[in-house]
This record gives sequence, C-alpha cells and structure tokens, in this order.
Amino acid sequence: MPKINPFKPNHPVSPGMFAGRLEEIRHLEKGLWQTKNGHPNNFLVTGERGIGKSSLLQLIKYFANGDIESSYGVNFNFVTVNLVISHKTNLNSAVKLIDRILKRELGKVEKIRSFLESTWDFVQRLKILDSGIESTVQNSEIDILIDDFAYSLSETCKRISNKEDGTRLKDGIIFFIDEADNTCENLHLGYLIKAVTELLVQYECHNVMFIVAGLPDVIDKLSNSHPSSIRIFNHLIIKELSPSDRHYVVERGIEKGNEINEEITKITSKAKNLISTLSEGYPHFIQQFSYSAFDYNSDGEIDEDDVTGGAFGKGGALDEIGTRYYHSAYNEQIKSDDYREVLSIMSNSMNSWIKKSDILKEFSGADYIVTDALKALTSRKIILKNPSKRGEYRLQQRGFALWIKMFGERKK
Ligand SMILES: Nc1ncnc2c1ncn2[C@@H]1O[C@H](COP(=O)(O)OP(=O)(O)OP(=O)(O)O)[C@@H](O)[C@H]1O
Ligand SMILES: [Mg+2]
Repeated sequence: MPKINPFKPNHPVSPGMFAGRLEEIRHLEKGLWQTKNGHPNNFLVTGERGIGKSSLLQLIKYFANGDIESSYGVNFNFVTVNLVISHKTNLNSAVKLIDRILKRELGKVEKIRSFLESTWDFVQRLKILDSGIESTVQNSEIDILIDDFAYSLSETCKRISNKEDGTRLKDGIIFFIDEADNTCENLHLGYLIKAVTELLVQYECHNVMFIVAGLPDVIDKLSNSHPSSIRIFNHLIIKELSPSDRHYVVERGIEKGNEINEEITKITSKAKNLISTLSEGYPHFIQQFSYSAFDYNSDGEIDEDDVTGGAFGKGGALDEIGTRYYHSAYNEQIKSDDYREVLSIMSNSMNSWIKKSDILKEFSGADYIVTDALKALTSRKIILKNPSKRGEYRLQQRGFALWIKMFGERKK
C-alpha cells in the first residue's frame, strides 16, 4: 500500500502542524479579547504569495470559534464570517454572502432565525449586478446600502452578545476577509470597512472585528478605495519562518505521517537541514520540498538525495511551486528567453535593488535588449523600479527570486 503523504503544499496548514508566528498570534488573540470586551481592533495581514496568510487566519478562526483555548484561559465564542474575495466580488454580492453566512451560523435558534429574517430583509431587495452595470450606481445608493448593512450588523451583534438577560449567546462577530488584494473597484472594500466600523460605533455596537489578508499591494488597493482606510487597521507583516520553526514543520509532518501509516518513515538531520536551507523559510517551499522528498523516498529513511531528487526532478517540487505560484509571471507574461535571462541575473540579488549597469555586465546579448526587458518587466509589475535612484531595479518577491535561482541550479 502506498504511504499517505502528510505534507500539505496545497492547503492552509492545520493547527496541529502550524509553526511559529507567536508574535502575530499574540496580537490577534489580544484583538479578539479586546473585541469581546467592547474595544474592537481590526487587523491587516500582508505578505508574499504562499507565506502563510490563510493558514494564520484559519488558526485564528479556531481561536475565535472556541475550538482552541486562548492564552487568556478562556475559549472565545465568536460568530466567524469567512469571505474570500475574488475579482468578481462586488458590494452587493458580498452583502448577500454575509447575510447567508450569518443566517447559516445563527439561524439554528428559532427566535434568532425570525429576528434575522426581519433585520436583514433589505438584502432581499438587492439584485446581483454584474460589474459593468454597478459602476454606474450612484454613490448615494452605495451609502444607503452600507448604512443598511451596518445597521443590520449592529442589531444582529447586539442581539447575540447582549448580556442584559443573562444569556449571552456569542462574544461578537469576526470577519475574516482573505485574498483582499483581488478586490475590484466595485467592492469599495476600503470604503466599506472604514464606513462600517464608524457606523457601528454610532449604532453602539462594539463587538465586531475585521481581519483582512492579502498580498502587499492590498495596501494600495484599500487606500485607493478610501485614503484613510488603512488607519483603522493594525498591520501585521508575515515573514519567512525561522530555522527552528522550519525544522518543526518537517518533524511534525513526519510524526503525523507515522500516526496514519503502518510503515514508519524517518528523516536524517542532514535532510532536514537541506529542506530548511533550500526553503529559506518560505512555508510553501518547506511543505512542497517535504512532500516531494517523502514521495521520492523508497527505503523508509529520507536523506539528502531524496530531498534533491524530489526537489529538482521533473514534476518535482520546483515544478509544482512554479505551476502554483509563479507560472504566469515567468512563462505566460514573458515570452522571451532574453527577458528570463535578465530575471535570472536579477535573482542572484534576491529582491534587493540591482543596478542596470551590473545586469548589463552579466547579460549575454546586446544592451538594448536589457533596456527593453527592464521596461517590459516593470510595466508588468514583475519587477520594481527604484523611485529614488535612477537605473536600479529589483524583483518584487523574494520567493519568486528564490524559485528562479533554483531553476538555474537545476540545470547544473
Ligand atoms: N505557520 C505555518 N506552519 C506550517 N506550514 C505553513 C505555515 N503557514 C503556511 N504553511 C504552508 O505553506 C503553504 C502556503 O500557506 P498559505 O496558503 O497559508 O499561504 P498564503 O500566504 O495564504 O498564500 P497565497 O498568497 O497563495 O494566498 C501551505 O502549504 C501551508 O500549509
Ligand atoms: Mg492565502
């Protein structure tokens, strides 16, 4: 029987295999505590592709639901609303979705169900508009919709978190808004959250919290929607995992595997070190390299050869990561090998600034190609141009640089 592979390169990690992020968890838990006690905090979680934003949100959701005990020695009891933003999500569809989720989460109690029906009846009148049409909707209509939404939300939250009759059903409502970088203009996300948080205060509702996550450019997108929307958030930037956390991920995975498989798998410390070094702390690299090494191994002990075999072979970890995260930037958006050579030269500096003159020194073709490449790659936002120093460029993401570098390694 083939062994079940315990590593999860394609899914947010489960709480039992979650590593690190102690600071971030502490901040978010404190936010939950504050919100429970009537002083809501909102958070913006940003970081590169695959750095672990969704995994962190998922973990905090377990805390918020009360599935995991908080470090305050209590189990929180929030209603959680999960929204994953796509390019198609507009204001109407988001409100409709929230209405559905709240009814699903809370509608089990008879009394609450009829309360929700009447409190959220404005949603029945909303039509799902496609993005082309909605852009013509007047601002005043948007404001009316946001006010209806905020009022219904505040009434709902007060109803379920009211302590007066001694039956506090819930601690409040937590919104988890993931992939917020996908937000389109018609969602008005920055404006929506800013306006709703202000209206909630007016309607004396103090137990609602927003946790928004996305790629770093979500900041610009929220600001474009409302210039001061960023100020309502505490900002958490998610970074690479430390070497000890990387080891923990690998060890926990192996342990999990041994719990579910009859045949035991071991891993040498050199193999663990290699995964840790190759990954540079990127959780999606750790999971994928571990997954591929586990798959490649056939003798029950994962060693360095299994790691490299699994990583660099055809259909191995590098190919998988490429397909999942970087394929579009590297293959679809760039049709020329010359441009890929420029990226490859730049990746030696990871995502630090590099002078055009230094790229020219290493490039194998004519100078004008480098000029064209830098222009094209900048306009496609694959690389950035230094706004304060002429002739300096850099790759946007360290993870992307690392992947390009390793592709070069593979040839060797
Ligand atoms: N703290 C962690 N411990 C162990 N593995 C993790 C951790 N965080 C993330 N991972 C793993 O890394 C990979 C990417 O994680 P996740 O999907 O959470 O990242 P993301 O930042 O949401 O990515 P994207 O930008 O694509 O949405 C997954 O395989 C996940 O299991
Ligand atoms: Mg994610």
